Amino acid sequence: MRGKVCVVTGATGGIGAATARGLAQRGATVLLVARDAVRGGALREEIARATGNERVHLFRADLSSRAQVRAVAREIAAAHPRVDVLVNNAGAYTFRRRESVDGVEMQWAVNHLAPFLLTRLLMEPLRAAGAARVIAVSSEAHRLARLPWGDMQQRRRYFGLRAYAVTKLANILFTRELARRTAGTGITASALHPGVVATEILLGGFPPLRLFRRFLRTHEQGASTPIFLASSPEAEGVTGKYWIDERPADPSPAALDDDAARRLWEWSEEMVG
Ligand SMILES: NC(=O)c1ccc[n+]([C@@H]2O[C@H](COP(=O)([O-])OP(=O)(O)OC[C@H]3O[C@@H](n4cnc5c(N)ncnc54)[C@H](OP(=O)(O)O)[C@@H]3O)[C@@H](O)[C@H]2O)c1
Repeated sequence: MRGKVCVVTGATGGIGAATARGLAQRGATVLLVARDAVRGGALREEIARATGNERVHLFRADLSSRAQVRAVAREIAAAHPRVDVLVNNAGAYTFRRRESVDGVEMQWAVNHLAPFLLTRLLMEPLRAAGAARVIAVSSEAHRLARLPWGDMQQRRRYFGLRAYAVTKLANILFTRELARRTAGTGITASALHPGVVATEILLGGFPPLRLFRRFLRTHEQGASTPIFLASSPEAEGVTGKYWIDERPADPSPAALDDDAARRLWEWSEEMVG
């Protein structure tokens, strides 16, 4: 990966940190996107020390804010006119309904609209890379969801896990629509399930799972498919697929609905302005 520029969002957390470390280990220039400058800075130091790779840089953004997504995209594009890999990994789970500063349900804001906007705003550096890879960390939880068209912001009826599952379904629909729209450009788009991993989003969201921690995947195991999709020659040129354990898998029928993917793209454009 020497010479490749890789952006990893949600880099202060389990799978994102392990993905960033793995890519740095392979020699890539790694751009960590994190909302907490102190933890992000500490992680940058730790990765540089552990891998001997000094080409690890921190970009600060709270991805629930459209303005901050725009600002960080501008900073990244100004510093790196070529981006080879974008790992849209940051994710949030909120049990109770919360809204972002822009008045958007929080899981929509962080899990779908932020990666949608960041990817769109980084299109120029991604195109400049020639064969860039855009990777969405989705989840098998997407199988629980249908897009709630009549109440997308889920104001009438909110159930945290369902709202999370909807955004993970959106990650796959976005990936498939992005693949369709970038066909022939060299850019590829992939979505993945990392396994059930002992990270904050899971253990904080579902505390009883702490009892079963030793049966869950480690952060490094969770990072194996994102790293594979970012770096492996086997994934080169493959686009629009959903991956589990470094292999293509069938997502739910709802995730294969091309009309829904198009409609979601248009809705997302309206939502991010
Ligand atoms: N763990 C699992 O079993 C599992 C299974 C399937 C899919 N996933 C997906 O894997 C991805 C990574 O999650 P994880 O399991 O590694 O959990 P995690 O340790 O909680 O990591 C989540 C990351 O997202 C960041 N983040 C959350 N809200 C943000 C915001 N508003 N702005 C910027 N960054 C924000 C967190 O930053 P802070 O450190 O500042 O909070 C953290 O770095 C998520 O998309 C999740 O849906 C996880």
